[in-house]
Amino acid sequence: MAYKIAVIPGDGTGPEVVREGLKVLEAVAKLEGFEYELIEYPLGGDYYLKTGEVLPDKVLDELRQVDAIYLGAVGHPDVPPGILERGLLLRIRFELDQYINLRPVKLYPGVETPLKDKGPEDIDFVVVRENTEDLYAGTGGTLREGTPDEVAIQTSVNTRKGVERCLRWAFEYCRKRHANGPWPRLSEEEKAAGKIGRLTLVGKTNVLTYASGLWYRVFQEVAADYPDIATDYNHVDACCMWMVKNPEWYDVIVTSNMFGDIITDLGAIIQGGLGVAAGANINPEGVSMFEPMGGSAPKYTGKGVINPIAAIAALSMLLEQIGEVAAARRVERAIQSVTGTKLKSMAAGRMGYSTSEVGDLVVAALSE
Ligand code: IPM
Ligand code: MN
Repeated sequence: MAYKIAVIPGDGTGPEVVREGLKVLEAVAKLEGFEYELIEYPLGGDYYLKTGEVLPDKVLDELRQVDAIYLGAVGHPDVPPGILERGLLLRIRFELDQYINLRPVKLYPGVETPLKDKGPEDIDFVVVRENTEDLYAGTGGTLREGTPDEVAIQTSVNTRKGVERCLRWAFEYCRKRHANGPWPRLSEEEKAAGKIGRLTLVGKTNVLTYASGLWYRVFQEVAADYPDIATDYNHVDACCMWMVKNPEWYDVIVTSNMFGDIITDLGAIIQGGLGVAAGANINPEGVSMFEPMGGSAPKYTGKGVINPIAAIAALSMLLEQIGEVAAARRVERAIQSVTGTKLKSMAAGRMGYSTSEVGDLVVAALSE
């Protein structure tokens, strides 16, 4: 059976990097022997400006039927902020109930990090970001807008169900991540106690006593079901410091939507920037969507200078999710070979190759 993959190249440089991802998909499918069908949707800023529609309901219904969604980028200089983000990206995340946003922070070989004296053995953790609630839920409103007495309220929504399913998924993920042996950074005592990995909850329990309070209580409760996972808690502000100073302390982080948004941009920059950072919007029981973390980068559009590694890494996550694990690993290895031996820099315009040449290099490395 052929996999059905929806492709939304989107705006700006989105189509350029998606093209390279699809090039890699075609090659790895041949090598690993699986079939797929692509269904392309020309959504994004241009489509909105032309039609007035962001995401037609009919398209949304079709997206419910595919095996995975591959997204380039949304964001258009002529479209006011929020329209595409809320109407396309967040709408898909919410309507398809993609309640996990999984963002690996992994420094590939050969990639420069702005962190002094840190290497690939120090920067290798994963952020599990809740993806449907919190300040993103869209509840709130304004009063007396535009007057000196204006009031703006935006509420952080945290449901017991939403928090618990995210935490459970994170514990399970941590367990799977170390199925072949414990995380080497655990202490001897932790290993002796049978721990195999560490899950750190990030919140703000000292101020957000209701929201982070709920997260903290449910975290303790769910932890009891995972005696093999060591647990830790960090306030989000402290986490930002440790991510820079001691990123090697982290194995798996779990956090709410807004904090997760912020710390994963910090994560992206320590792993070499948006040219390499990828993320997965996962509905474990439904349809998931995979995207490079970088935006549409209007100023680079059409120049062929953007790094497609992030989009190719997102493809690798897609392959893993649909069950093509060997293909996912093969793509991951090829990426590491290319960053480790070929690219001069991960930054746009400084790779030493064009966007499409980098795609070709990854394709060639698939057969190494
Ligand atoms: C991300 C992005 C989105 C978010 C924006 C574009 C709505 O920053 O995927 O992290 O805030 O989730
Ligand atoms: Mn973000």
